[in-house]
Amino acid sequence: MPAESLFSPVSLGAIECPNRIVMAPLTRARATEQHVPTEMMADYYAMRADCGLIVSEATAVDPLGMGWYRAPGIWTQEMVDAWRRVTDAVHEAGGRMVCQLWHMGRLVLPDYLGGELPIAPSAIAGEGETFAPRPAGDDSHFLPMKPYVVPREMDAADIARALESYAIGAANARRAGFDGVEIHAANGYLIDQFLQSKTNHRTDGYGGDVNGRTRFLAEVIGAVCSEIAPDRVGMRVSPTSERKGMGDENPDALTGAIGSIAQKAGMAYVHLIEPIASGFMEKPDRPVMDKLRAAYSGAVIQNGSFDAQTADEFIAAGQADAVSFGRPYIANPDLVTRFRQSLPLAEADFDYAYVGDEKGYIDYPDYAGS
Ligand SMILES: Cc1cc2nc3c(=O)[nH]c(=O)nc-3n(C[C@H](O)[C@H](O)[C@H](O)COP(=O)(O)O)c2cc1C
Repeated sequence: MPAESLFSPVSLGAIECPNRIVMAPLTRARATEQHVPTEMMADYYAMRADCGLIVSEATAVDPLGMGWYRAPGIWTQEMVDAWRRVTDAVHEAGGRMVCQLWHMGRLVLPDYLGGELPIAPSAIAGEGETFAPRPAGDDSHFLPMKPYVVPREMDAADIARALESYAIGAANARRAGFDGVEIHAANGYLIDQFLQSKTNHRTDGYGGDVNGRTRFLAEVIGAVCSEIAPDRVGMRVSPTSERKGMGDENPDALTGAIGSIAQKAGMAYVHLIEPIASGFMEKPDRPVMDKLRAAYSGAVIQNGSFDAQTADEFIAAGQADAVSFGRPYIANPDLVTRFRQSLPLAEADFDYAYVGDEKGYIDYPDYAGS
C-alpha cells in the first residue's frame, strides 16, 4: 500500500476529511466588542473551506473566561445565530469546521471582568502582559498592553460553573452547526493551568500528582461529551510549552495521562502542539509525541512550524494523521492549492494579525490573484 500523504483522506473520529491539511485555530479578533461573530468571519472561513478540517479561533464558553478584545464567544443565542452564518458559509463551500472551546482562566485581565479577579486553579499570575480592551475613543492601531494579575483560586462552585459552561458551549456549538468541538487544553489557558505542575498547587482532588492535575480535563471532556458524541470531540494540548509562565515537572507522564484520558473517552483526535522548529513556541528538547501515541490509538494532528514537505514526511512515516497550519493560513486562503501545486506562499502582515477589520484579514488574494 502506498504511504499516506498530505492529500489523502482521513477520518478524525466521525469527521471525514478529504485531505490531511488542518487549519489551526487562529485568534484574529474580528468579532464585535460584545464578542459576537461578524459577516467577515463567514467570508474568511469559507475561503479556507477546502482544507480537511477548519478549527475555529478560540471561542469563549463563559464571560468569566473571556479576556480578549473582539474575540468571539458562544454563550448567548445571538452568538449561536451568528456562528450559524459562519458554519453555513463553510458547509456551502464544501468544508468542515469544529469550534475551539476556550476559557482563559488566569490570563483574563480584570478590565474584562468589571474589575473582578480572574479565576485559576491556584493564585499564581501568568508571566508577561497581554492586550487590554480598547479604551473608549482610542483610535490607535495597536491595543494597550497590561501585565497579568494574580488570580483568585477556584473553589468547588467555580469548578462546577466552569464545567457547566463547557457543556453549554458544546450544546451551543452543536446548535450553531459545527461538525464537532475542540477542547482548548493548550497554551496556558484554564485547562492547561490545571494540567501543569507549575500553575497547579492545589491540595484537593484537582491537584497534586498527575491524576489529580488531569481530573479537571477529564471532567471537562465528560461535560462536553454529555452534549456531543465523543467521536466529534477533539482536544488541543501543549504539554511542553513554557510560554506565559507554564511548566511541568514531567511532560512525559503528563502526556501519557492525557493520552489515556483521550483513549478512555474515545475522542475524535488529539491536536498536539509540538513544534519541529522554534517560532510561535520553542521547539521542545524532549518531544512527547511517542508518549501520546503509546497511550492513545486515535487520530493525532501535529502542529508547529511545519511546511508541506515536513508535514508530508510526518504523515508518510505515520508520525501524524494530519498536520495543522497556523501562520501560513493568515495570508494564504488557498493554502491547499499552493501546497498541491508547489506554489510559493504569501507573507502575512502581522500588524493585522490580532487587530483590524477587513484589511489583513479577508483581502489576501489566492495565488491566481482573485
Ligand atoms: C495570530 C495567531 C493566533 C492564534 N490563535 C490561537 C487560538 O485561538 N487557539 C490556539 O489553540 N492557538 C492559537 N494560535 C497558535 C496556532 O494555532 C499554532 O499553534 C501556531 O501558530 C504554530 O503553528 P504554525 O507554525 O503552523 O503557525 C495562534 C497563533 C497565531 C500566530
